[in-house]
Amino acid sequence: MSPAARNRTQLAVIAVLLLALAALAYKFIVAGSVVPGDDGRQAVVLEPGERAFVLREMRAFVAGVQQLTDALARDDLKAAAAAARTMGMAAAHDAPPALIGKLPLEFKTLAFATHRGFDALAADAHSLGDPKHTLAQLAGVLHQCVECHSAYQFVTPAGR
Ligand code: HEC
Repeated sequence: MSPAARNRTQLAVIAVLLLALAALAYKFIVAGSVVPGDDGRQAVVLEPGERAFVLREMRAFVAGVQQLTDALARDDLKAAAAAARTMGMAAAHDAPPALIGKLPLEFKTLAFATHRGFDALAADAHSLGDPKHTLAQLAGVLHQCVECHSAYQFVTPAGR
């Protein structure tokens, strides 16, 4: 093989590898593992264990919101901040990478915005001490729960 031909072959191999990498990054970061759902929503296909993991996190959200509203009703902004912090970004860090790769970008964006919203709520509850402000922030965060639930459901490869 002439040096020029070898160069061309090497370039072609690099181009193919880069394309494969781009396709993989697209699948992992943007597209996720999604099929059309049976009720008009998008269905994120997860292994049973992954689905159980996310649903457990969802139930923790409801438990946290319960504690948060209870604290707000008592004007206890310290307890409100503590409840919100349990739902902040720190709670998102134990999600397994394989699971994150199956979530489409819009889902991840909404999920992170929800966790960050609770962190912002906790910080303001701590520094401002204004229950009305915290309640308005909570309404804003809950809007993201509503938005995501109207767009996505979870399914497992074998169905439900
Ligand atoms: C980024 C998307 C997303 C966000 C944000 C989100 N959820 Fe969910 N949640 C889902 C999906 C998807 C399901 C499964 C729905 C289905 O399969 O029908 C779910 C399920 C649930 C369930 C059912 C749990 C179970 O055991 O079946 C609860 C409760 C829940 N979410 C609460 C919340 C609350 C409260 C918030 C906001 C603080 C929230 N979720 C934010 C996507 C989201």
